[in-house]
Amino acid sequence: MKPVKVGICGLGTVGGGTFNVLKRNAEEIARRAGRGIEVAQIGARSSNPRCDTSDTPVTSVLEVADNPDIDIVIELIGGYTVARELVMKAIDNGKHVVTANKALIAVHGNEIFAKAREKGVIVAFEASVAGGIPIIKAIREGLAGNQINWLAGIINGTGNFILTEMREKGRTFDDVLKEAQALGYAEADPTFDVEGIDAAHKLTILASIAFGVPLQFDKAYTEGITRLTTADVNYAEALGYRIKHLGMARRTEAGIELRVHPTLIPADRLIANVNGVMNAVMVNGDAVGSTLFYGAGAGMEPTASAVVADVVDVVRAMTSDPENRVPHLAFQPDALSDHPVLPISACASAYYLRIQAKDHPGVLAQVASILSERGINIESIMQKEAEEHDGLVPMILLTHQVIEQKIDDAIAAMEGLEGVAGKVMRIRVEQLN
Ligand code: HSE
Repeated sequence: MKPVKVGICGLGTVGGGTFNVLKRNAEEIARRAGRGIEVAQIGARSSNPRCDTSDTPVTSVLEVADNPDIDIVIELIGGYTVARELVMKAIDNGKHVVTANKALIAVHGNEIFAKAREKGVIVAFEASVAGGIPIIKAIREGLAGNQINWLAGIINGTGNFILTEMREKGRTFDDVLKEAQALGYAEADPTFDVEGIDAAHKLTILASIAFGVPLQFDKAYTEGITRLTTADVNYAEALGYRIKHLGMARRTEAGIELRVHPTLIPADRLIANVNGVMNAVMVNGDAVGSTLFYGAGAGMEPTASAVVADVVDVVRAMTSDPENRVPHLAFQPDALSDHPVLPISACASAYYLRIQAKDHPGVLAQVASILSERGINIESIMQKEAEEHDGLVPMILLTHQVIEQKIDDAIAAMEGLEGVAGKVMRIRVEQLN
């Protein structure tokens, strides 16, 4: 059989990795796919010193989508503009698409999949979430017998790398971020990493395939890691917790929780010990219970691993009847549910609160009564000695689970107390059991 011809658009870190893996493992990949896979064209503005592309024509990216010889367009440009134009053009021209672009799928996926269905082509996007971990395939196919209850993931390697280095080596935020950028992990705009936007893109995708709802990135709650202090990291540790930047999606009767924020996790959970640039996703299903998927969430060849697996999947499925393929979002498109995404004020969580109290009698009692008046149960409490520089006493409380609206209200009341200085630090707590 003739080889399948693919065009790689974007020859940066992931594009270069994909080119090299397709070349290096060509024989093994052909034995799996049943046909050879040939990189017949590259769409890129410049070459990649880590790839020998001397035998492959290099053109502009949009020319790849117009080339009648190309069967599969691999979009590895990133961003929403040229990438979107390229993907829509490729689909219009009847080509299958493989992409690693989480922002594009999270924001424009509904429109892209509708167009793909109209044209009978596949859009595969495994590499868009958690780099080399085959988490989309695992949820979409491996866990297809379950009702998924919740999933929680460390799905931004840069953020996890920063938190790990700060905790283990006491390094500064900026210093670690620069290293992540040099290693090729960080987004072009690093605020996407540290403010949780990149994780929210990935969480949006995971939630859709877990719960069978349309992609709704605009409804995801996003909170970054820039406000975390070493003191909070250490207090969490003293209470038996680690702070991770977690993406959490949970199905409740009222709606779906879709939120990315710093989170205290019991230190003995496996996921609390996922360090550096590594990613991990826990998925809890009614039949399977809890599962954990771990691996490199970014980087040249780990991400290429997922891209190439998608190419193999497409090659295997391209001759099949489009109606009988695995649906893009795991559920049949006419069976997607309109179960709403909840605003953060309606989500339920336990909380870590750090209150900077003046060293007066009665402040703790006032704080405790603010919580009890609102039916918020205190799980534990820790009071440290007054700090030398300001004489304030850090009071750390852990609460039981409560709706966020109630804790917001309690925090506002605490901040109004004469004995409380400044803002109350609030971090959500998840037991993940
Ligand atoms: N910037 C992302 C990360 C790259 O750090 O995880 C992979 O999506």
